[in-house]
Amino acid sequence: MGDENNLPYPFEFRDISDEEKSVIDKLHSFPYASELTRLGPKGYIVTKAFKKDAANIYNLPLKSSDIFVTSYQRSGTTWTQELVWLLASDLDYEKALAVPLVDRYSFLEMFMFVPDAGLDSFMNTVSQNTENFNKETMLQIVNWLGTPASRKLAITPSPRFIKSHLPMSLLPPKVLDTAKMVYVARDPRDVAVSFYHHTRLFMLTGFKGTFKEFWQLFYGNLLALTPYFEHVKEAWEKRHDPNMLFLFYEDLSKDLPAAIHRVADFLGKKLDDAQTAALCDHLSIENFKKNKAVNFEEFRALGMLAKDEAFVRKGKTGGWRDYFDEEMTQQAEKWIAENLKDTDLRFPSTN
Ligand code: A3P
Repeated sequence: MGDENNLPYPFEFRDISDEEKSVIDKLHSFPYASELTRLGPKGYIVTKAFKKDAANIYNLPLKSSDIFVTSYQRSGTTWTQELVWLLASDLDYEKALAVPLVDRYSFLEMFMFVPDAGLDSFMNTVSQNTENFNKETMLQIVNWLGTPASRKLAITPSPRFIKSHLPMSLLPPKVLDTAKMVYVARDPRDVAVSFYHHTRLFMLTGFKGTFKEFWQLFYGNLLALTPYFEHVKEAWEKRHDPNMLFLFYEDLSKDLPAAIHRVADFLGKKLDDAQTAALCDHLSIENFKKNKAVNFEEFRALGMLAKDEAFVRKGKTGGWRDYFDEEMTQQAEKWIAENLKDTDLRFPSTN
């Protein structure tokens, strides 16, 4: 199932319920629910497009030099990717500034976020967002984004840097026996706010609701790759594996030099104080906002980004407080407490 080579795949796809479909469709400008399905025993939400490469990803041939950066989306992935890449590449700033991060990493499941049923709606939105709309160019980009990375990985030179928002259970089961992985997690309330802005930024899903409605989708496990806590807990369970480094966004934010040293130790690299300071400077939110290799601003001229949003946004912890009313705050607290009951996972922000 799910590939050209009849590779084994242990998980089943199942439809989301009619009730869930109607909740989703009310909040989108096209029938987005028709693109979604649940996967595996935990019922992760993926798009139906994922079926075409699920088994290839699960059975991906790995190398000991592969480095994965994984997360639930909007947890600080890009920040961590740049940090990991620079450390693993002996601080090659020249290349880091010249080659976009999207070309330095293979994004395993990017293809599944490219709309299928919603393609016309997306093209229409993009065409209204720029005076320079060029259908041919856009279709080429959509085609590039929609091509599974697993195919390109076979010819990618080592070391291969791989980005994924898939939970551990959907990645190759023995990934940590071979490759290294850095997973970054973040307070789910900040993730939800950041994800809301990201959804508005890329306009791919046609979401037209408020933040409160978006939060209900996140909390109700109706957004891509939710349930959130299952995702984080799967990685947390592997945190003692010598090939896994589990980071929190909040720790990077609080003490970036310490986080840099943890990643450097993990990758077997050494940094002196001056090198650490230079890396902190490169990784600062101010510099990230200006850095064309990481900020996705190249998509703006093509009309692919909403005018009032940006990929590198606030870069703060605890910003959720400006978005949650009392009811949502209590709901979130209860939800977090319930989900942390059976684990020693604690977000630095909830300690
Ligand atoms: P906010 O939207 O809360 O600002 P991801 O890379 O997983 O999509 O995560 C995106 C989040 O990381 C966004 O959070 C973004 O602003 C933040 N981020 C990106 N670069 C950062 C940096 N250099 N320092 C701090 N936060 C950063």
